[in-house]
Amino acid sequence: MRVFGSADFDDHEQVTFFADPGAGLRAIVAIHRSGPLGIAGGGCRMWPYASEDEALRDALRLSRAMTYKLALAGLPAGGAKAVVLGDPARDKTDALLEALGRAVDGLGGRYVIAEDVGTTPRDLQVIARATAWVRREAGDTAEGTALGVLRGLEVAVRRRLGATDLRGVSVAVQGLGRVGRRLCAHLARTGARLVVADLDPARARAIAAELEATAVGARSIYDQAVEVFAPCALGGVLDDATIPRLRCAVVAGSANAPLAEPRHADVLAARGVLYAPDIVIGAGGVLAAASGDDARALAERLDGLAATLEAVFARAERERITPLVAAERTARERLEAGP
Ligand code: NAI
Repeated sequence: MRVFGSADFDDHEQVTFFADPGAGLRAIVAIHRSGPLGIAGGGCRMWPYASEDEALRDALRLSRAMTYKLALAGLPAGGAKAVVLGDPARDKTDALLEALGRAVDGLGGRYVIAEDVGTTPRDLQVIARATAWVRREAGDTAEGTALGVLRGLEVAVRRRLGATDLRGVSVAVQGLGRVGRRLCAHLARTGARLVVADLDPARARAIAAELEATAVGARSIYDQAVEVFAPCALGGVLDDATIPRLRCAVVAGSANAPLAEPRHADVLAARGVLYAPDIVIGAGGVLAAASGDDARALAERLDGLAATLEAVFARAERERITPLVAAERTARERLEAGP
């Protein structure tokens, strides 16, 4: 396992490996930047990784993306990520979560843990038995994330297709978890036509019935003739095998790091697909967390997300670069400029 020499290592400030055999815990916490306040935020992912390398890669990539996401969202914190190696359905116990809480506590507040794929608000409550460094309001982030994706999707559709609203626009949503199913409900309200898929076919069928959508198998979601493909499952789904199958004009969804490699942004652009970078469009959850109960503040911040995405698309066109490169450049400039 290479760390400093890994392609995903970006001078991360701290990468810590935790093991508690008694509790069955194996976890990595990567702090990319601790930000001006010395605090880094980021979700905790629990996943049955095929290898330790894969888990480390996820921690490095996702923590870096979190720093960029927060910088683009104008929030004064750094980015981090925790990954727990294991199957949440089988391996997650209160003892494991408490051990994870002790691990987070040992970082002394440099890392504030939140939920992500494989962890829930209830898990955070168990983790909180062992540490105060838990984002309490995390329960609402999925709704904020879905609202942010909706706004970003509208911006991308307007830019690429000239459509002023989503009425009649067809969207294929991959993944109907906390974010995906909320996004579907919002899209249905706007009059979009939905094609949905989840690894759990019963979930896809139920949502299709509720929203008058079409459910397809998880494997065939890439092949749908739609205007928008919305990845809301895991990262790394768009690669050399799946991109050629896409029949859409826009990719816009919540999934963190949906491109298998950065070069896939060029592959999408070469096919005329407008890609809304995850580090911009996926920020609704952190904006919701920063806004607390203040609905007006959230609405203003979501306007800011839409404006940032418009600026990123404009910069990409002006500088003849992909939206991903434009977003990363903008994020780096904001980080260098400081708070
Ligand atoms: P979740 O775990 O609640 O839902 C993920 C869903 O995707 C599950 O229903 C799962 O069965 C499905 N899925 C997994 N692989 C699939 C595949 N190959 N095809 C079809 N369905 C598949 O996760 P959540 O919270 O909805 O997050 C979704 C994505 O959005 C993740 O990439 C996450 O990192 C990202 N995200 C989530 C935020 C949040 O506030 N929850 C914030 C920002 C990003």
